[in-house]
Amino acid sequence: MNDRRTIGFLDSGAGGITVLAAAIRKLPAADYLFYADTDHVPYGIRTPEEVASYTMDAVRFLTGRGAEAVVVACNTATSMAIRSLREAFALPIVGMEPAVKPAAVTHPYGRILVCATPLTIGGEKLHTLIDRNFRDMPKPDLVPLPELVELAEEERFDWDSFSPALDRVIGADKSYDAVVLGCTHFVYFRDSFQRRFPGADIIDGNEGTVNRLADLVPFPNCGGASTIRFFESGREVTVGSGREKRCLRFLERASSL
Ligand code: DGL
Repeated sequence: MNDRRTIGFLDSGAGGITVLAAAIRKLPAADYLFYADTDHVPYGIRTPEEVASYTMDAVRFLTGRGAEAVVVACNTATSMAIRSLREAFALPIVGMEPAVKPAAVTHPYGRILVCATPLTIGGEKLHTLIDRNFRDMPKPDLVPLPELVELAEEERFDWDSFSPALDRVIGADKSYDAVVLGCTHFVYFRDSFQRRFPGADIIDGNEGTVNRLADLVPFPNCGGASTIRFFESGREVTVGSGREKRCLRFLERASSL
């Protein structure tokens, strides 16, 4: 009997591959389906209704391909759609939210910066999360950084692209104790964030998300390597194609973070 698990991942684009890489590290003997909604990236500047509808299509697609659980490897899609997804589908669905809780726990009364997409920053979910975790403490600063999503999609990870993009939004302020990367695309820039904020803890939610997946879905210890199939807005990425090579470059970069 084949007791390997098939797990679906989705994101607007390549950001979710950082979460996929973390999953492969922890749960190597599984079959992964990765859905990047390349026709509609970026999500962070669209309407909530658009993002909810694209996300619904992606989960439907992944379940149709045999996913037994789905990781919404996108803070924006989680913020806009997680409740309706869980109502619509009977399988385990793991969402992502900016890791403000660990930031509040490790730096109570510290200066905390939360970076995310405009939609996540404006969404009710993040504000509820902050109210719950920063009850009597100074609230974190919230900044939208949609430009970093574009840079990541263009595979421009260099400091000279990153630094002005941050300066335009944050100015010269460096004095944070923790910086929360509330968008999976931003995780590719972890080293640049660390260089920009030398004294800060740079925190993302990837490991917590994978731990949640492992808690929700029993992964029998069946051995063997993982397999990955990539999809772009419902079209399978052909093995050996330029598009697959692009996905694998992201995976390699994410695996070395
Ligand atoms: N990677 C996504 C997130 O975590 C969304 C980026 C975008 O498409 O704007 O929020």
